[in-house]
Formats: sequence, C-alpha cells, structure tokens
Amino acid sequence: MKRRKFIQNTSLGSLGVVAGATALGCKSEVEKDTSMIASKEQKPAPMVIATWDVPNAVNKAWETLQENKSAIDAIEAGCRVEEADAKNQSVGYGGRPDRDGNVTLDACIMNSEGDYGSVVYLQGIKHPISVARKVMEETPHVLMAGAGAQQFALEQGFEKENLLTEQSKKEWEEWTKTSNYEPVINIENHDTIGMLAIDKDGNISGGCTTSGLAYKMAGRVGDSPIIGSGLFVDNEIGAATATGMGEEVLKTVGSFLIVELMRQGRSPQEACEEAVERIVTKNPNYKDFQVGYIAVNKNGETGAYSIHPGFVASEYRETGKNTYAPGSFLKNAE
Ligand code: GLY
Repeated sequence: MKRRKFIQNTSLGSLGVVAGATALGCKSEVEKDTSMIASKEQKPAPMVIATWDVPNAVNKAWETLQENKSAIDAIEAGCRVEEADAKNQSVGYGGRPDRDGNVTLDACIMNSEGDYGSVVYLQGIKHPISVARKVMEETPHVLMAGAGAQQFALEQGFEKENLLTEQSKKEWEEWTKTSNYEPVINIENHDTIGMLAIDKDGNISGGCTTSGLAYKMAGRVGDSPIIGSGLFVDNEIGAATATGMGEEVLKTVGSFLIVELMRQGRSPQEACEEAVERIVTKNPNYKDFQVGYIAVNKNGETGAYSIHPGFVASEYRETGKNTYAPGSFLKNAE
C-alpha cells in the first residue's frame, strides 16, 4: 500500500503521520505518531468517566482517587456501588435475569500494567468486579466462567446470595407471559456500567460490569467481560469501554478499536464516533439497538458517542462533576 493512499484511507491526511499500522500491514511504510503519548513529566489530573448517569458510582470512584489510591482501586469501588444497587436492573444485585429466571453476571477489570481479569456467567455473587480483580491478581488466568468462577469466588471469601430481587422477578414473570424478546433501547438495552479512571500518578485503569441483556438465552455472554470488546486499557495511549448491544460490540472489537484509533492520532471523541460508525456501516439493522462508547486518552481528554440519543456519560474531575448527553449517530443524521 502506498503511503499517500494509506493516509487517505485513515482520514488522517492533516496529521501526516500514522501509528500502530501493523494490523493494516503498513508498518514498514509509516512513521509512529507519539503525540498522544504523554511523557512521565506530563501527568494528567485524576479523573473518572462512566457510562450512564451513575452519580453515586462516580462519587465513590472520585473519593477513592482523592484518598491517593490507585485507578484500579477507584474502578473497583465505583463499580461496586452500582452492583449493590437493586434499582440498577442491568448490573449485579437486582439485575434482570435470563429467560429462565437466572441472574448471570459478567465483569472485567484492566489495570495500567496491561493485566486483566474477567468473570463470565457468574451466579450468586453480588460483586463480579471484585471477583474479576481477584482473577487478575490471585490466579495465573485472565478469564473464569460459570461454576468454576463461583467456586473461586467462594474460596476467596465472597458470599453466595440470591440476586433476583422481587422487582426483577415480577417483571420477568410478566415477560414470560409473551416471551417476546425485543430489548428496549436505553432501558433493557441497556445500562452496563463501564468506568475509566486516571489516578494521581497518571495511570489509567478500567472496569465493566453487567447482568447482560434482559431475558437473554441461558448461557449468553456479551461484550462486557471480553477484553478488547467491552473494555480495553493501554496506559501509553488511553482506554475505552462500551455499553449496549454486546453482540455488535463483540463483532467490531469496539474498545480495542477505539484505543488503536487514538494510537493513530484520533481524539477520544473521533475514535468513539468512528467505532459507532463501524457498527452502523456493517449492520443495516442498527436502528434496532443501542451501543454507546466512552473513552479517555493519556492526557485526560474524553469522548463519548452512541447510535441512538438517550445515552449519558458521567465525569468527575477537579473542576467538578458533569453528567451529559453526548452526540449520537442518529441525532447527527437527522
Ligand atoms: N453490553 C453488555 C451486554 O451486551 O451484555
């Protein structure tokens, strides 16, 4: 591939340089753009960003950062708030069940060293984000599933409990009267909590936790616990996480894509928009589901974008807390 053609293809002509082109087979023909890589002296200020309007979760993560704890501590603490909240019916305790009435949880966590831990199809444990961290820190593995993940959690001291609240049970019983599987955009389809944080040392970590799509088939796992899809962190570049229809995020490896686009010089906003457009381009039924992304780069700049309006992002940094509706593909297309 000629260098000029490659630059046109990547819409980066104005930058004149492109990095991380290995996947495009152009490595030998491009220069590395290091502009996004902050030096050790240029630490960004601590911050946290999360998918959806989750004030208690970002407050907790921010407080944790203020105690001079690490970004990974902030992520775990913040995600646990939503996992414990029965009113959040897409995460942890109170999460909506699969079509057989079982609450099955997925979560992952990734630190600034590139370490990663994940649990999929975990039942009866309220805090999958903490189990994921234990997988990362206490095992030689990165991903544990089902009964084995539960056994590991119990061995680590987690308690087994019933996660199906009366409210979620009642709604599921109502749903079984028709068993009509049509996830509702922005409600059942849905509010996975993805969170990214930068600590006082300028290190980035992320986490993602969900009960998955309401009334999914038994055994279904989405993007949230899968590295590169629901979450990806590269401490030299930035991080991204996803919410919404996991199947579409998985098919485009969305979070990894966003980080790699930032590596090539896109801003977090441009990278989120391009990842959403990738889904829209590939799936003509894109109006039937929601996907939202958030991202942060090494300088602490953020981006957020979704297919449908209705997606919300929450940030907390020294200047205060900000919950806002980012742009969306369908609104822009109006
Ligand atoms: N985004 C979470 C899921 O699809 O399960």
